[in-house]
Amino acid sequence: MNPNSTPLEQKSPIPKCSSFLFLFLPILLTPLILLQLQSLNPSLPISFCPSPSFSSHLCNQTTFLSMLRHSITFLPLKDLRFSHNPMAGNTWFMSSLPDSPDSVGEPYYIRLPSTSTNNRLLCISASDPHDGSRNSYALAYPEALPYNSTFLPGFTFVSDTFYDYNNLWHGLAAILPFARWHAANGCASPERWFLFHWGEVRKGMGMWVRTLAEVSTGGKVRVVEGGEAAGVVCFEEAVVARRNDVGMSNERKEEVYDLMRSRARIYCGLERNGGGNLGEIRMTLLFRVGSRSFKNETAVAGVFERECERVDGCRVRLVRSSNLTFCEQVWFALANLHIYHIVFINLYI
Ligand SMILES: *[C@@H]1O[C@H](CO)[C@@H](O)[C@H](O)[C@H]1NC(C)=O
Ligand SMILES: *[C@@H]1O[C@H](CO)[C@@H](O)[C@H](O)[C@H]1NC(C)=O
Ligand SMILES: *[C@@H]1O[C@H](CO)[C@@H](O)[C@H](O)[C@H]1NC(C)=O
Ligand SMILES: *[C@@H]1O[C@H](CO)[C@@H](O)[C@H](O)[C@H]1NC(C)=O
Repeated sequence: MNPNSTPLEQKSPIPKCSSFLFLFLPILLTPLILLQLQSLNPSLPISFCPSPSFSSHLCNQTTFLSMLRHSITFLPLKDLRFSHNPMAGNTWFMSSLPDSPDSVGEPYYIRLPSTSTNNRLLCISASDPHDGSRNSYALAYPEALPYNSTFLPGFTFVSDTFYDYNNLWHGLAAILPFARWHAANGCASPERWFLFHWGEVRKGMGMWVRTLAEVSTGGKVRVVEGGEAAGVVCFEEAVVARRNDVGMSNERKEEVYDLMRSRARIYCGLERNGGGNLGEIRMTLLFRVGSRSFKNETAVAGVFERECERVDGCRVRLVRSSNLTFCEQVWFALANLHIYHIVFINLYI
């Protein structure tokens, strides 16, 4: 069931992944190699000084780097100054850093390192699951990371959502910018995800959301947690998204949904047009459970059953989404959309 190993469909809106990897690999490796070289001999004197006779203690690299490392400023992940209007771009998360789309209609990202932040790395100190203002972030030069921090190589997706990672609809909106990033960057997959809600650490995604995130970003979702999250972690490269799908054009969203559908079908081993006969109409009523479920599901179902009886070839099926596996849901919702008439009831919001 490895989504990587299956070829993409012809009609897939994204480029073939393998050819892009060769382009991408050197970009990933260059900073690593530079860092390796740097760490070979950290005490090697380098020319901070205008001339050898310039006798400031700043000429001593060890002293200089120590000063840099001590001057790193950590700011709260959740900036309470914006708490009166947190949903306007979710700007209370990493409020000192601007996010922007690559072009009109694309998701808003903060990319780190980048030239606009002097190529500094993102460092996060976050273990509080209840109060985002007690978690913090900083920017640091790779040669002078904070004391006692852990350097995490590779790519990290950092997500902050106003909602959550369990509800299907909200989770989908949260992973959409990352699925787009994956498609637009040669199908590169992140090493890990760091998940937040209002700056509070989240340890995981719901099963459905996680499976969809995995098929649409091309790899296992590994969430930063436990020991890693307890101290300061610094990311070789990070992409931060804090607005869900806000800013994405409908066209761009459709493209990402197409990618998700196509990948989910491959993952679940479904033919694009498999199952069902033309002329059949099958209604599937997906009921949610819990406090927002219908008071009387029998009565609601009765309405649809009566209407269905009046149409030839119509059948109604009642399911609870919590009773279905990911692939059963894909089968219902995605695989046969051109034949089946699907009704989602009371499920997402
Ligand atoms: C730089 O400073 C450190 C600590 O103060 C000292 O141990 C080291 O010898 C100095 N190096 C040079 C080249 O002066
Ligand atoms: C780093 O961690 C050690 C052990 O926990 C501690 O003794 C030391 O003071 C820390 N260094 C800094 C600069 O915080
Ligand atoms: C639910 O609706 C059905 C059909 O309208 C009705 O027979 C039944 O008594 C209702 N149940 C409750 C608990 O109200
Ligand atoms: C969901 O599953 C439970 C047990 O696994 C079963 O009793 C129930 O009838 C199922 N509900 C639906 C709507 O399929």
